[in-house]
Amino acid sequence: MSINILGIAGSLRAESHSKSILHTLKERTWDGAVLEIFDLEGIPLYNADHDGDQKPGQVPSFKEAISRSDGLVLVSPEYNYGTSGVLKNALDWASRPAYKSVLKGKPVVIITSSPATTGGVRAQDQVRQTLIACLSELVPHPEVAIPTVHQKLTDGRLSDEKSLELAVGIVDALIQWVKGKN
Ligand code: FNR
Repeated sequence: MSINILGIAGSLRAESHSKSILHTLKERTWDGAVLEIFDLEGIPLYNADHDGDQKPGQVPSFKEAISRSDGLVLVSPEYNYGTSGVLKNALDWASRPAYKSVLKGKPVVIITSSPATTGGVRAQDQVRQTLIACLSELVPHPEVAIPTVHQKLTDGRLSDEKSLELAVGIVDALIQWVKGKN
């Protein structure tokens, strides 16, 4: 049985570095696992008035994709020292009903990147806090933050050897974690 990893990038733009990292990871061959990507384009702004039986846009598919997955890889940019509104908003949709949502107990790893030398490391803390609120399972692993990411991509794929090793390493850790649970 193959392990199903879901990758989510916290950016909507076509040339996104976060998306590029995720696509690089998707194209790799993983031992006993596949990585699919969910694009957040169709997720509207959270409105509790619309969080009933008929959820808007791609919210139902998003929640189903998380539910079906064995683990998540979140790739976030850093916006004003935090994560992107796009990612936070999507996690807010996924987080309901509180403490019983599809994120509860879900193994997750986080990767951040930035054109700056800080690699989006401040966004990591915010994403982690949100996942703690959702009772997700944060896979124990050193943080992966990729600085000066624009210099580490070639043709929309992560090509810098060290960064690739780090990104692959944390996804491997997630897969091993999921294997250990089954
Ligand atoms: C940024 N950027 C940025 N970078 C960073 O390292 N720390 C920060 O606090 C911010 N703040 C910020 C705010 C806003 C509103 C924008 C538009 C950008 C730069 C950001 O990391 C860069 O645009 C990335 O390329 C965005 O991620 P994607 O779209 O490439 O995945």
